[in-house]
Amino acid sequence: MIAEEQLCNLKDISYQPAGIYENTRFEKIHNVVYDDSNVASAIVAAEIADLIRKKNDKGEVCVLGLATGSSPIKVYEELIRLHKEEGLSFQNVVTFNLDEYYPMGKANSQSYYYFMHEYLFDHVDIPPENVNIPRGDLETDEILDFCIGYEEKIKSYGGLDFQLLGIGRTGHIGFNEPGSHYNSRTRLITLDHLTRSDAAASFLGLENVPKKAITMGIKTVMEAKRVVLLAWGKNKAEVVREAVEGEITSQVPATYLQEHENTTFVIDTGAASELTRIKTPWLVGPCEWTSSLTRKAVVWLCEHTEKSILRLTDKDYNDNGMESLLTKEGSSYDLNIKMFNVLQHTITGWPGGKPGADDTKRPERSEPARKRVIIFSPHPDDDVISMGGTFDRLVEQGHEVHVAYQTSGNIAVSNHEAMKFAEVAAELNPEDKLFREVIESINQNEEYAPDAEVVRRLKGLIRQKESLGATRYVGIPDSRAHFLKLPFYETGAIKKKPLGEEDVQIMMNLIEEVKPHQIYAAGDLADPHGTHKTCLDALFLALERLKEKAYMDDCWVWLYRGAWHEWDMHEIEMAVPMSPDQVLRKRRAIFFHQSQKDGVMFQGDDSREFWVRAEERNKDTATKYHKLGLADYAAIEAFRRYHFK
Ligand code: F6R
Repeated sequence: MIAEEQLCNLKDISYQPAGIYENTRFEKIHNVVYDDSNVASAIVAAEIADLIRKKNDKGEVCVLGLATGSSPIKVYEELIRLHKEEGLSFQNVVTFNLDEYYPMGKANSQSYYYFMHEYLFDHVDIPPENVNIPRGDLETDEILDFCIGYEEKIKSYGGLDFQLLGIGRTGHIGFNEPGSHYNSRTRLITLDHLTRSDAAASFLGLENVPKKAITMGIKTVMEAKRVVLLAWGKNKAEVVREAVEGEITSQVPATYLQEHENTTFVIDTGAASELTRIKTPWLVGPCEWTSSLTRKAVVWLCEHTEKSILRLTDKDYNDNGMESLLTKEGSSYDLNIKMFNVLQHTITGWPGGKPGADDTKRPERSEPARKRVIIFSPHPDDDVISMGGTFDRLVEQGHEVHVAYQTSGNIAVSNHEAMKFAEVAAELNPEDKLFREVIESINQNEEYAPDAEVVRRLKGLIRQKESLGATRYVGIPDSRAHFLKLPFYETGAIKKKPLGEEDVQIMMNLIEEVKPHQIYAAGDLADPHGTHKTCLDALFLALERLKEKAYMDDCWVWLYRGAWHEWDMHEIEMAVPMSPDQVLRKRRAIFFHQSQKDGVMFQGDDSREFWVRAEERNKDTATKYHKLGLADYAAIEAFRRYHFK
């Protein structure tokens, strides 16, 4: 039984919901939604700091259960800041980590031991003896005793005061995978395939991900006095909905938290996007019918009733919680026509604007007829994968198109691929020492060790020349292909440096030089991690600093989505259709990126090659438009405008 005074620290801490959504009748776990995961993380860190201080004032130890993975990183950064700048001390803190891979040595950079020291412990004043992390380096016959001891140690401190959690896409908390029992305790488990494939990128391939782990049990977590679970990004939206709204089941272990009296899910808008009150608020309670909510509702209603817009009836609206929308708009007839036109006006074959045309109902301005355009591509192939058709049209329609590859993309080139080039070069030039060096270095490289500088250069050059193949094919001069090699990326390892001043300056310099009328960029707004988000942050910072310049008054920013998701139908503001021939041209442009064909390194759990993914996604968008009753195109690329002023 949890003491009253320990129940939910929410009174003290300002967990402010981001949106207007208040009605939570489908929800069984308290949750708060933030637009920005950084802000949310700082608030969670403030709660932890507050607890540490209160315990300290009382002369008590503060027992924290900690998680690893991408979700808590910003919380740890903020705790470090509080320690360094605001005197927060960890002297009275004892920590128990949730889990560790098995088998796994402490010194391995993939270990959670390593992670915790790198992201938190090495930067605060916690006494080393107060740190507890399940041990991945035990012999098999030592594990059982270790697990029993871990539980006893937690108990000896009076249990966990605060447990920080992430959530896996299987619904795991800790590494309690589907099937975990409510009464489970610290133990050795087998990782789910989906969990392993989510970890594959950081292990440079699925085959390197350990199959087992030691994790605290469900019961251990459930006994914590306070639980805060973090989830960021659209990838987590489905599992967050299941955990918050679904029935309690061992198949989604996070649902057990519905029975915990003092749990809060702190999530961002991406992770919240499948919650009923956010996805379909009209099913939950009264709505303020803004134009974007109206569009979202009508698109949803079409999908739900399997009808095109112009066939929706009053009854369809009334039966699905939208009677107030009908009251506001008059009748389904008027509303249908209005929404049909809204969607129709997003479609244009002139992504740079149609010269001389009336542009009042077009997504882009007609003037200037010949625009200067920069396409920012985080990796050296996102331009053609995500907007190859639009790129092609912009060039064909006479605009001055520049492409800026933000990172070198060197770590995504396999050693086999690099070896091929090095061997060709070495054979052509037997006297040259450089390529012998490259070959030797690749042969000697240990698993997970960053590549030698010279190998990195070779890998970067491979991607550079592949990109030039594609840009020449699309028809831009080499002088308009810019390879920015943003320094944050150049660590030679998967872990990147934080975005720095130099990165922002490089972005600003190019924008200053080109003075673009249009900027295209990968807008993975909902994914708070990874290279795409960092590249987008670099752009946003550059725009912020340049926005007062006169030429920026004429600059519009369009966001395409990265290789993983497409914009939802109600979010699309410019839809550029492609003919079957243009689809083929786009495919050929993607083929130039040969190092990324066949079993690429950062595939995720989608085994389709990039060109197949791109084609299916563009076809899917076209089909969705057609199903809404609009024209039947072979493929469509989609964009959303970003207003920086
Ligand atoms: C990590 C852990 C896991 C992660 C979960 C989410 O210690 O126990 O449950 O919290 O897999 O991982 P990220 O945050 O990387 O998405």
